[in-house]
Amino acid sequence: MIRILSGIQPSGALHLGNYFGMMRPAIELQERGEAFYFIADYHALTSVRDPAALRAHSRQIAVDFLSCGLDPARTCLFRQSDVPEVAELAWILSTVTPMGLLERCHSFKDKTAHGISPTHGLFAYPVLMAADILLYDSDLVPVGRDQKQHLEVTRDIAVKMNETYGTLFKLPEPHIREEVATVKGLDGQKMSKSYHNTIDLFLPEKVLRKTIMGIVTDSTPVEAPKDPGQSTIVDLYRLFASPGEIADMEARFRAGGTGYGDFKKQLFERILDYFRLMQARRDHLLAHPEEVDVVLRAGAEKARSVAASVLDRVRAGVGLR
Ligand code: TYM
Repeated sequence: MIRILSGIQPSGALHLGNYFGMMRPAIELQERGEAFYFIADYHALTSVRDPAALRAHSRQIAVDFLSCGLDPARTCLFRQSDVPEVAELAWILSTVTPMGLLERCHSFKDKTAHGISPTHGLFAYPVLMAADILLYDSDLVPVGRDQKQHLEVTRDIAVKMNETYGTLFKLPEPHIREEVATVKGLDGQKMSKSYHNTIDLFLPEKVLRKTIMGIVTDSTPVEAPKDPGQSTIVDLYRLFASPGEIADMEARFRAGGTGYGDFKKQLFERILDYFRLMQARRDHLLAHPEEVDVVLRAGAEKARSVAASVLDRVRAGVGLR
């Protein structure tokens, strides 16, 4: 049976980029193998310095993932820091990781350019991510395109370990769905917390409406034809609508006579509708926090037992035992 693994940082509210880039593909993959999905709270320490906020975001990810369809009966959901073995593996991996490999990573440059402190933890972030993946003998890692380079680094580190110590790790494959690899934000750039252009999951109706109305558009007048190929509204609508509905919106763009405000309203209604059932499940979980605790406790136990056996193999392989 193949093993599927992915993580998500509790550094703020989840958004449509996280949902379509990672959560939905991850939820679909649950059927195809043994899935391990985790809340990357060690990673989030590189940017979140408020303990109460970190706790709240971690909790929220668990609730949101379960609301969106993660099935705890078949999938292991856990907090990264409940398996501290990962920090030991990260150290071992870091002793074979060339500095140059990390210096080439764009996420460090990108994050520091957006005001995150250039700490050693931020620089070494991809090594911890490699440890996350290799600690569970993962075969497949569903992620958005922005994580592709980190998967390449993981494979490079695994190869280096195998060359140095004999085969210790299998090489994981990224699973990147082309049509949702990069979900656009309100301004047409990649949707990202650090760009302040997100549409968050489970916003109250009023806030969602206001957010959607804030999608940046050009000044084409209502009567004029509009190019659906150049529109963030259409790009986002494609994520939710059926092929027929998409073709219909594209035709109305080209025909002219409809303003961007009307298209935004249509998108807003579609989003609201799409998440309605999940919203109900979320309301239930928020009212029953003990159900989430049970899932996280069981997840930690299962993840830890897999991690312990892989780490034993690695310790023996490198001569620590
Ligand atoms: P994070 O928390 O930034 O994002 C979680 C997932 O959401 C995807 N994503 C997007 N996909 C498409 N379009 C977007 N606009 C968009 N924004 C975010 C990301 O690609 C990611 O898959 N380093 C990881 C967390 C992590 C991890 C791991 C992932 C830690 N260890 C091990 C996989 C395996 C991160 O920061 O994701």
